[in-house]
Amino acid sequence: QLSTVRLTVNGEQRTAKVDNRTSLLDLLREHLDLPGTKKGCDQGACGACTVLVDDRRVNACLTLAVMHQDARVTTIEGLARGEQLHPLQQAFIDHDGLQCGYCTPGQVMSGVACIAEGHTGSRAEIREWMSGNLCRCGAYTNIVSAIEQTAK
Ligand code: FES
Repeated sequence: QLSTVRLTVNGEQRTAKVDNRTSLLDLLREHLDLPGTKKGCDQGACGACTVLVDDRRVNACLTLAVMHQDARVTTIEGLARGEQLHPLQQAFIDHDGLQCGYCTPGQVMSGVACIAEGHTGSRAEIREWMSGNLCRCGAYTNIVSAIEQTAK
């Protein structure tokens, strides 16, 4: 069965007609042409698909698009302002918080939520918040540094 899903994505009204079983991740990547959000495991284990829905962190692979009618979604494509990177994106560069880059969109979105929700009291607290975002290259130390720096 098909449904029309209406969302505000990165400040723009978007609609798509999708099968009811379509995940929010597939809606973004395949129907709305926003491939910045990555598909790692597609089962909630890696965090590569992290986006913000109404400012809360969500694994987009684990939730159906039709559940988010009229929601406000922010993806990695929505963070920069023109040429101006979001401060956390810049901090990832400054602190070498990435290697292959595949997990980076999810790491950055999780980090944005970490800062917004105030889980930055210590490196351990940041690490705990970020524990659902896996990085096969092992950039964890630098990712924590980027978040710590941006939260200051
Ligand atoms: Fe969603 Fe891995 S792709 S958690």
